[in-house]
Amino acid sequence: MDRSIYCGLVTSADINKEIVLTGWVDRRRDHGGVIFLDLRDREGVVQVVFDSDAKHYFELADSVRSEYVIKVKGNVRARSEATINDTMGTGEIEVYGIELDILNTAQTPPFQLDDHVTVGEDVRLKYRYMDLRRTEMQNSLRFRSKVTSSIRNYLVDDGFLDIETPIMTRATPEGARDYLIPSRTHAGQFFAMPQSPQLFKQMLMVSGFDRYYQIAKCFRDEDLRADRQPEFTQIDIEASFIDEDDIMSTTETMVTQLFAEHMDVEFSSFPRMTYKEAMARFGSDKPDLRIPLELVEIKDLLKDIEFKVFAGPANDPNCRVAALKVPGGVEISRKQIDDYTKFVGIYGAKGLAWIKVNALENGIEGLQSPIIKFLGDEVTLAIMSRLDAKNGDIVFFGADKSSVVSEALGALRCKVGEDLNLYTCDWAPMWVIDFPMFEKTESGGLTPLHHPFTAPSCSVDALKLDPANALSRAYDMVLNGVELGGGSIRIHDQDMQAVVFDILGIGAEEQREKFGFLLDALKFGAPPHGGVAFGLDRLIMLMVGADSIRDVIAFPKTQSAACLLTDAPGRVDSAQLRELNIRLRSKDD
Ligand code: AMO
Ligand code: AMP
Repeated sequence: MDRSIYCGLVTSADINKEIVLTGWVDRRRDHGGVIFLDLRDREGVVQVVFDSDAKHYFELADSVRSEYVIKVKGNVRARSEATINDTMGTGEIEVYGIELDILNTAQTPPFQLDDHVTVGEDVRLKYRYMDLRRTEMQNSLRFRSKVTSSIRNYLVDDGFLDIETPIMTRATPEGARDYLIPSRTHAGQFFAMPQSPQLFKQMLMVSGFDRYYQIAKCFRDEDLRADRQPEFTQIDIEASFIDEDDIMSTTETMVTQLFAEHMDVEFSSFPRMTYKEAMARFGSDKPDLRIPLELVEIKDLLKDIEFKVFAGPANDPNCRVAALKVPGGVEISRKQIDDYTKFVGIYGAKGLAWIKVNALENGIEGLQSPIIKFLGDEVTLAIMSRLDAKNGDIVFFGADKSSVVSEALGALRCKVGEDLNLYTCDWAPMWVIDFPMFEKTESGGLTPLHHPFTAPSCSVDALKLDPANALSRAYDMVLNGVELGGGSIRIHDQDMQAVVFDILGIGAEEQREKFGFLLDALKFGAPPHGGVAFGLDRLIMLMVGADSIRDVIAFPKTQSAACLLTDAPGRVDSAQLRELNIRLRSKDD
């Protein structure tokens, strides 16, 4: 007797049919003389009933426990009106059991599958194969599989070729630490796992493949968060003889189609915003445009006040003084304001000034704030007028180094938007363009904002003259405040590439050693090319409404980059280390 149908797919159309089911016992209930088994497989749950007419099978059914694996032969019958269960996909029918075969027993599960929220993520990750039995996880991974297959179809139809690139390779600079693999055959030498297929996809363009894609695993040893894993998946794309608009429109259409097909959501064309505008208005290079709050510059208003906390930054060209108006914010309690002050502290803000607008018609008397005495009436009212404040608003503001103010108020904007549920729509996709080529490092040098293969928007000469202010041909796709993907038009000219390496302080020798192969490749007829990579895990996380990419990855790692299921990373024995010419030393040597 082979399975004839999945549990979750039995419907009233099957009434009076004899069927064979296999699956896991979700629940067993004994109603005295009748045993109900909820039987579960990947498609869902169906109720099977055994009564004492068939004594042997009744007793067998009585002996099964949660998560036993069984096979059942039975007849589908309609449930009586009173016992129809609308919450179950198969709630209109049940299966009257005729035969039962126990295929395997199971120990008591480490957690009841419906209790997953109470056990903590560590337990779920340790017994991930059990956690993955839950409907929510089954649905997420199945959804992921469908989306991945649509992506492949879309890209293949658009002429992209799927080409694999190596996992054992050389370091690719994407800004994180590398995971290394020691070589046995080359003592003292290491492979690096790719932070992305960046250099290989560029070389595939030099080889003339013209349009490449890959659903590629990438590895980055960096601080982990809800939307970052050490091992994650990119939808990686590169094409030749194209410009920014080609890449952006191709992938915008791809994402639009994915949302139409899998979410029934229609996007109109994505707005494009320069990096400069995004930072000024939203304090972020990945603004969440669902939230209708904006930062407003007030630096000029505070230049002449006595209070140094604001006057200092107001007169410093490296600083920013900005305000954020929240309509309806007078309701925010002192305790909540204190919490927001702590929250902006995470981003380095030393305080969070605020003014509540109770009754603007009463002038300064109608405002409530601990800092009016420091600002003076005139300046306070000027700020109110700049922000077009109305009764019921609260105005927060910050003064500090530009990056601190932007980050702190940018994050506060998202937090308040979430807390007060200010969202104006469900989905807000967009592009951020015109990124700077470089950003300043702590030590005063320059580092690439994207990666060092990104083409500048200017000529070699202009770049050399003023690298700090040069813009790049890079673009990021942002959805609901999450950076979904990023890419750029690349440098295809070896002189330009060498100049960029120079600006980054990578000397000739280091250039040769690290990227000699790329510089060589650029000499042999590299076509103009560019591309992009999307975080597949992040895309799926947003689509299924998960809080973390861990929930859409079958076997994710913890915050400290460990796999609790397999207990990796693990020690290796000394023979293996010797073979690799590695001697361990203690951490503080
Ligand atoms: P980038 O570094 O911006 O670009 O990465 C592209 C996208 O990959 C996702 N992503 C991550 N997802 C989960 N965990 C991580 N640790 C993680 N890091 C990045 C993000 C991000 O937008 N080679 C370039 C692309 C190119 O220029 O074509 C690159 O890797 O969604
Ligand atoms: P203080 O004089 O330090 O108590 O600060 C007075 C008020 O200004 C408090 O409400 C602080 O939260 C706020 N404040 C202090 N420093 C800053 C800053 N750099 N940016 C914004 N507000 C600040």
